[in-house]
Amino acid sequence: MPRKVNYGVDYDEDYDDYEDYDYDYEEEENVKSPESKQEAVTSGIWRCSICTYDNDEHMSACDICGVLHHPLVNIGGNIDKKKAPFKFDTPSPDDLVSKGLDRSSKTGSKDVTEKNGSVNVRSSDESSDSSARLTGKSNQSNKEAHNKRGSVTSSDVSSSRALKSSQSKVEEGSNAKSVMIKIQSNDKGPDSLSASEAKGRHDTVDWTVNSLAKGTRQTLTNNLNNIALDHRSVNPNNANFKKANSKVLYKHEKWMLPDQAEDTLIQLNLAIVGHVDSGKSTLSGRLLHLLGRISKKEMHKYEKEAKLQGKGSFAYAWALDESTEERERGITMTVAVAYFDSKRYHVVVLDSPGHKDFVPNMISGATQADAAILVIDASIGSFEAGMDGSKGQTREHAQLIRSFGVEQIIVAVNKMDVVEYSKGRFDLIRQQVGIFLRSCGFRDSFVYWIPLSAMENQNLVAAPSDVHFLSWYQGPHLLDAIDSLQPPARDFSKPLLMPICDVVKLPSLGQVSACGKLEAGALRSGLKVLVMPSGDAGTVRSLERDSHACSIARSGDSVAVSLQGIDGNNVMAGGVLCHPDFPVSVAKHLEVKVLVMDVATPILIGSQLEFHIHHAKEAARVVKILSLLDSKTGKVAKENPRCLTAKQSAVVEVILHGPVCVEEFSSCRALGRVFLRAKGRTVAVGIVTRIIE
Ligand code: GTP
Ligand code: MG
Repeated sequence: MPRKVNYGVDYDEDYDDYEDYDYDYEEEENVKSPESKQEAVTSGIWRCSICTYDNDEHMSACDICGVLHHPLVNIGGNIDKKKAPFKFDTPSPDDLVSKGLDRSSKTGSKDVTEKNGSVNVRSSDESSDSSARLTGKSNQSNKEAHNKRGSVTSSDVSSSRALKSSQSKVEEGSNAKSVMIKIQSNDKGPDSLSASEAKGRHDTVDWTVNSLAKGTRQTLTNNLNNIALDHRSVNPNNANFKKANSKVLYKHEKWMLPDQAEDTLIQLNLAIVGHVDSGKSTLSGRLLHLLGRISKKEMHKYEKEAKLQGKGSFAYAWALDESTEERERGITMTVAVAYFDSKRYHVVVLDSPGHKDFVPNMISGATQADAAILVIDASIGSFEAGMDGSKGQTREHAQLIRSFGVEQIIVAVNKMDVVEYSKGRFDLIRQQVGIFLRSCGFRDSFVYWIPLSAMENQNLVAAPSDVHFLSWYQGPHLLDAIDSLQPPARDFSKPLLMPICDVVKLPSLGQVSACGKLEAGALRSGLKVLVMPSGDAGTVRSLERDSHACSIARSGDSVAVSLQGIDGNNVMAGGVLCHPDFPVSVAKHLEVKVLVMDVATPILIGSQLEFHIHHAKEAARVVKILSLLDSKTGKVAKENPRCLTAKQSAVVEVILHGPVCVEEFSSCRALGRVFLRAKGRTVAVGIVTRIIE
């Protein structure tokens, strides 16, 4: 039977709790603005009278808006000085950011000035010198990265899911929510822990994550993956850093490695994603029914109840959409977890909500997926709505899933019955979605295309029976496609890390269970574990997988871990179970390399964002924009830009309202991947490059 995972209510609602944290950057800027309009007196710097940007003294025109420093000096015989305070051939700030013009392109504008006799040629040379140095360094970094990639690839941990017993759903939901508030307000966490924290940092690690896209293909997620991580800036005075080597000493035990004889099936966490109403829950429910995970009796009950409520067509979806509100509204709101076995895999189905309001839940649930099924509604108008640039969740989900590190995707073109199993429609969808997925960084050979109808049971676990459908489609059915996915890589030999996505408490029995997926290491009864960020130690009482007791859980497994000897209040969703000697880092000041999505509003210093990392979410503020990166090369294109716009990648510093459990991406991908959201949209995806404090 499927289980429901409650990741708490929509984060956007919780976010209201942070009103007191609100920091109106715009307002503060406005307050300062009257005096800012004056040129600054700081030596070596002049302040632009138009945009207030502080420019280096040697700049003859504002680096941001192009306004001349001394508009009335003689800049050329044929320019009317009084009429030309602005350089109209200088790109506007909007042009600079939207066209991605970097310092080198502005050097071009300096050249124009040079012709007019007032350019500082030396500054131009310096600029190209420094860019040459950057190029050299980056090439070297890339080489080092390449050398290290082999060892790093094995850390491509993937998915995770939370289990939750139906009977404790309500209690758990409220727990999850109250727990989240506690995480956010627990400012003591990092300080009290810092002395004992150990981190798997390396003082010099240059690492390029580019397992998919080679060459110069320009894509949102490729850009992110092309980024070389430079960890040289780690603060050596940080207490956490001093213990960095302790992870090197970790030795796994034999029982922690998988035993082939014990279980021949591999666990595969499969996220079901896609635009609202595309049929994700119906497809999941139908699959579970066909594979015997939902009995005839249960199915009959769902059909009867759904009909009674005038929602007969949602009968299969009801197997996953269990809450009254979900059923009344006919939409999934939280991720549902269900299990089935294929020939090759123990599949953990993560049925995600498609509605845009519940993207935070989708992120929290599907963030650790090994692979995904992107469900597309083939019907006329619906496919197009899903692909809409600003509103369509087909695009947003595909981008998110790719940025979770998922490389393999099955595109299930559903509702083919509505378009009379038209080959033309399938081909058109395949062509358009194919282009988009390529732009997201999915490799063609890892994208599987399956036309089907969940409602009419066509091409799910057997070849189609519809004659017309069969006349043009002889490819694999959905279950075959699942079995043809490559098994995910796991971190068996690293210290335990299990992000907690849910907590089940039975106060009467004094029991507490943490649910989640092991990202690294292994667990068995009697093992001592540390619960972060509280730092409490406990012992594993028992383990459960898919409602059945199990003796060992290894990296990649989704389990419920019953703990003893621990205060249940200190076990919270968003926390992490770790090896007692190798606790995860806890921090609230981070350096993050981000890739900005298609956003209309730029990200500025002071921008307030929602920060999502594994199952934790926090309010965050951008405190620095350190550098803008060239989207093709990943090299620094501009230091200290004022703002970030769509499709730009950059290194920023963020300060969170409360501490979160986090690792640098190079140590653990699953704990180093972040998603930044604002106003109900994902505005940027990123990776943690440095834990500052
Ligand atoms: P959210 O979780 O809210 O995003 O929706 P969903 O993607 O899970 O869609 P759901 O399974 O709830 O189905 C939405 C509607 O599409 C229901 O009325 C289903 O009966 C209908 N539907 C799903 N699959 C098919 C199909 O193959 N053919 C037809 N004709 N209708 C389908
Ligand atoms: Mg659904």
